[in-house]
Amino acid sequence: MKILAVETSCDETSAAVVEGKKDLKLLSNSISSSLPIHAKTGGIIPENAAREQLKLIIKVIDLALDQAKIKVPEKEIDKIAVTIGPGLIGSLLVGVETAKTLAFIWNKPIIPVNHLFGHIYANFINQEKKIEFPSIVLIVSGGHTDLLLMKSHSNFQWLGGTRDDAAGEAFDKIGRLLNLPYPGGPSIEKAAEKGNEKAFNFPRPMINSKDFDFSFSGLKTAVLRETLKDKNLKSKEVSDICASAQKAIIDVLIKKTILAAGKYKVKSILLSGGVAANNKLREQFKIESLKLGIPVFIPEKWLCTDNAAMIASAAYYSGKDVDFGKIDAVPDLYFD
Ligand code: KG4
Ligand code: ZN
Repeated sequence: MKILAVETSCDETSAAVVEGKKDLKLLSNSISSSLPIHAKTGGIIPENAAREQLKLIIKVIDLALDQAKIKVPEKEIDKIAVTIGPGLIGSLLVGVETAKTLAFIWNKPIIPVNHLFGHIYANFINQEKKIEFPSIVLIVSGGHTDLLLMKSHSNFQWLGGTRDDAAGEAFDKIGRLLNLPYPGGPSIEKAAEKGNEKAFNFPRPMINSKDFDFSFSGLKTAVLRETLKDKNLKSKEVSDICASAQKAIIDVLIKKTILAAGKYKVKSILLSGGVAANNKLREQFKIESLKLGIPVFIPEKWLCTDNAAMIASAAYYSGKDVDFGKIDAVPDLYFD
């Protein structure tokens, strides 16, 4: 069975083809990003992102089919998967309407995929070891920070999430306060390499609360205070702030994930979302994994940020086909 997947929830336009036999095989993934346009405006203006999606979508799908050596899609593709939310509505609509049109003319079923499930399922691509359930899943993206208990492919329990900013959002907002290029996550990571993570004792909100919720807005305020004290921060100070803020975010993410792993006696931990591309976070989780004796799975870096391969993977493992006429780009709740 071959699935063509389309992802257009934000500023990446991506298409992928997977083949599902016993396991999932990634045949292609093409991706084009409008990030340089958003870097100029210091963040994403939704209409700009949607307009770029419109320009890119057909080229990106063509490329994915080409790379997968699909010559006659209506014969060789069995299903079409598409991200239906959460995301920017204008961007989502481009992918959903394109997928619906292809499904209509090729007479194929559509598999609607929640973007956040997509991030989780990036863990099921190119993995050497088999993931055993139950798992604790940490989603850390630009808009979400959530902890879930995954009992099987069809059984998820939401344990907690951020009460204010998401981890990626905290990186992005702190980056903006420090005048670093958008997006903040990779810029902070780079600046932090030369910094001292002990230089500033930033707050780690909710780190000792016994629930699985998070809060990052206090950290952003603490950084704001430092920037107000000195409007001309030197590059060493910026690096120190970045290293200290990055450490504060990582400490909280790790503490809560381990707390959940212990409580639910899980057999694996899965990391997912754009922030999971962060090297320090990856290293720290690997260290904790050895200490705990629980395998930690982290997608390859390119699979952490938005891509259609993860949408194809989610569709393959957990998707349910629906009639294309019933799909709308309405961000749905991902926990029943
Ligand atoms: O998952 P994603 O690509 O898009 C959403 O679904 O939101 O995540 C984007 C987020 C942004 O906030 C970005 O700053 C963050 O992931 N990010 C990182 C890194 N790479 C991307 N944060 C920290 N370190 C990174 N290396
Ligand atoms: Zn995402």
